[in-house]
Amino acid sequence: MSHADDHEGTRRDFLYYATAGAGVVATGAAVWPLVNQMNPSADVRALASIRVDISGVAEGSQLTVKWLGKPVFIRNRTQEEIDAARETPIDDLPDPVARNENLGGEEPATDENRTLGEGENWLVMMGVCTHLGCVPLGDGAGDYGGWYCPCHGSHYDSAGRIRRGPAPRNLLVPVAQFVDDTTIQLG
Ligand code: FES
Repeated sequence: MSHADDHEGTRRDFLYYATAGAGVVATGAAVWPLVNQMNPSADVRALASIRVDISGVAEGSQLTVKWLGKPVFIRNRTQEEIDAARETPIDDLPDPVARNENLGGEEPATDENRTLGEGENWLVMMGVCTHLGCVPLGDGAGDYGGWYCPCHGSHYDSAGRIRRGPAPRNLLVPVAQFVDDTTIQLG
């Protein structure tokens, strides 16, 4: 065997071991969530669904709560914010899909399809920029009177819909519902 063959053989061995090792790791990673789901601890079960008292959230203000390790924005919108969102033609939206987990999946991103409850004012969204996951600034920030992500300059409107910048999708509306007039359940 020449010196060159010897070297190649060593490299093949190395590749073989590296691949086998990666396989073991991937199997372990795939099994763990399954086991974890079958036996969720009490604190995980409690965190999967939380109730939020919104009685103190005045018109024109936002409550940010942490849920499943992520911020959730709960905004009580002003009439001006509602009107601006409702007057926006769907054709002006870079992402025309509602991104509302309470609906089927492909509904248009009208303001009605993104708000919660029977009023027009409540907007509940994950506070996670759909570009690379920064937390956008609120209170009418940005050029469209909604939220602005300073990481790379994404502007969201007063319905949390992306209007300009690198973010590809509207801010996600999570599973949520009113359980009484002043309490919202997330999850
Ligand atoms: Fe928000 Fe990049 S993470 S614009």
